[in-house]
Amino acid sequence: MEVKTDLAEKLAKETALQQHYVEELKAEVEKLKARLGHVPTCHVTTFGCQMNARDSEKLLGILLAAGYEETESEEADFVIYNTCTVRDNADQRVYGRLGVLKGFKNKNKEMKIGICGCMTQEQVVIDKLKKSYPFVDLIFGTHNLYKFPQLMCDLLASGGPIMDIWKDTDITVEDLPVCRKYSYKSGINIMYGCDKFCTYCIVPYVRGRERSRDKDAILNEIRSLAADGVKEIMLLGQNVNSYGKNLPDKTTFAQLLAATEEIEGIERIRFMTPHPKDFSDDVIEVMKGSEKICKHIHLPLQSGSSPILKRMNRSYDKEKYLDLALKIRSELPDVAITTDIIVGFPGETMADVEETIDVIRKVEYDNAFTFQYSKREGTPAARFPDQVDPVLMQEGFDLVLEEVQKMARKRTALLQGKTELALVEEINDHDPSLVTGRLSNNTIVHFKGDASLIGEIVPVSLDVCQGFYYLGTRQ
Ligand code: SAH
Ligand code: SF4
Ligand code: F3S
Repeated sequence: MEVKTDLAEKLAKETALQQHYVEELKAEVEKLKARLGHVPTCHVTTFGCQMNARDSEKLLGILLAAGYEETESEEADFVIYNTCTVRDNADQRVYGRLGVLKGFKNKNKEMKIGICGCMTQEQVVIDKLKKSYPFVDLIFGTHNLYKFPQLMCDLLASGGPIMDIWKDTDITVEDLPVCRKYSYKSGINIMYGCDKFCTYCIVPYVRGRERSRDKDAILNEIRSLAADGVKEIMLLGQNVNSYGKNLPDKTTFAQLLAATEEIEGIERIRFMTPHPKDFSDDVIEVMKGSEKICKHIHLPLQSGSSPILKRMNRSYDKEKYLDLALKIRSELPDVAITTDIIVGFPGETMADVEETIDVIRKVEYDNAFTFQYSKREGTPAARFPDQVDPVLMQEGFDLVLEEVQKMARKRTALLQGKTELALVEEINDHDPSLVTGRLSNNTIVHFKGDASLIGEIVPVSLDVCQGFYYLGTRQ
């Protein structure tokens, strides 16, 4: 208890301090406004996963609270890149675009550039930024994101550059301004970090150890989101079903789901990502009895080959995974199962790829993200001697993708002619007479409608299957 009290005290102190800095920042932004002769503009660019996107909502919330105005363009007075480093192409995109930002900065002497997120937790990245991108004014990491008000104040007051990277943290400051991207749906962090150390993955190194948030703090946040008009929430964490293991009261993920179900105003509950190893029967039971938990489970497979899974340190083998996925299929027949697959992990042969394809055929995934293995410096797999030849990697990737698409088409077609509830998310990108909605099982449907429907949950008949999505009619 002693420890918990200390932490609670530290949390309260840090929260108050950063709230104070939001006020200080307002004064700095006023001064900047006078210098510029207009309201300073800002832009936050997200490169990563849902957790990264949630962090961006916090960054933007603070900037708007301090008096910045958001702009669509990166030609702004302040641009911050919230980076991802899960695969090398994520890093490369950031470096490429930083070059473009430099051009904007040459035209606007008052422009400031910030970079934060998972990339900045890596020493190699910091070295490269210092050497080749000295025009970046503000660099901080994932553990001290909550210090953003203070760092911004220092930047505007001193002109920068400012760099502040922490190795880890034991607190999760939440009570700061947030600007949600969508009015009707929101992610909510239930835990941070990851303790699984899959041998290919950089996340545990850049996000730190697993830390679950207090259950009441989560439920209170969801209640206030509901009061603010949010209908759909997504509980976020790298391994949501390990939730609570390090909490004093040992609340389980299933208990958290059940408690969330009780919150009035919330109509849909999603979660991302559960780990197959920790997917216990109590979650299946809660889902069976639930009106609100969406009919979708994302269950990352990574590989269907037991020896590869072992080398990946995934803590399950092909049989265990299949048992679980097929149990979900039989107990929750209308639940969509999606997955992540890596092709080309060190030592992977075509026989291993066949094992993966076998799992795809047996589970009949509703959808899957397929990735080519990307070597991440500092992870154990980066030092494995048997790295796969890129040509073979591509070959395996194409085979897996083909099978995934075959299954996804088959599963999507099963809904043909049904009427389902869709949450309307936006006006269709290509045809403004259509809106785009999402079914509980995550399938997308486009149908006639206008902006007044955004955020509404409406019945839609699924008329024409277009492969992975539907054209429908509002009923
Ligand atoms: N915590 C989640 C997802 C983490 S990252 C989980 O355990 O599944 C999202 C996905 O990126 C992973 O599921 C994996 O498929 C992929 N990924 C992670 N590291 C990778 C790497 N080094 N190369 C290719 N894909 C990777
Ligand atoms: Fe990475 Fe594995 Fe943790 Fe997922 S469970 S974030 S893949 S280490
Ligand atoms: Fe990328 Fe960091 Fe998410 S590495 S996938 S943004 S946790």
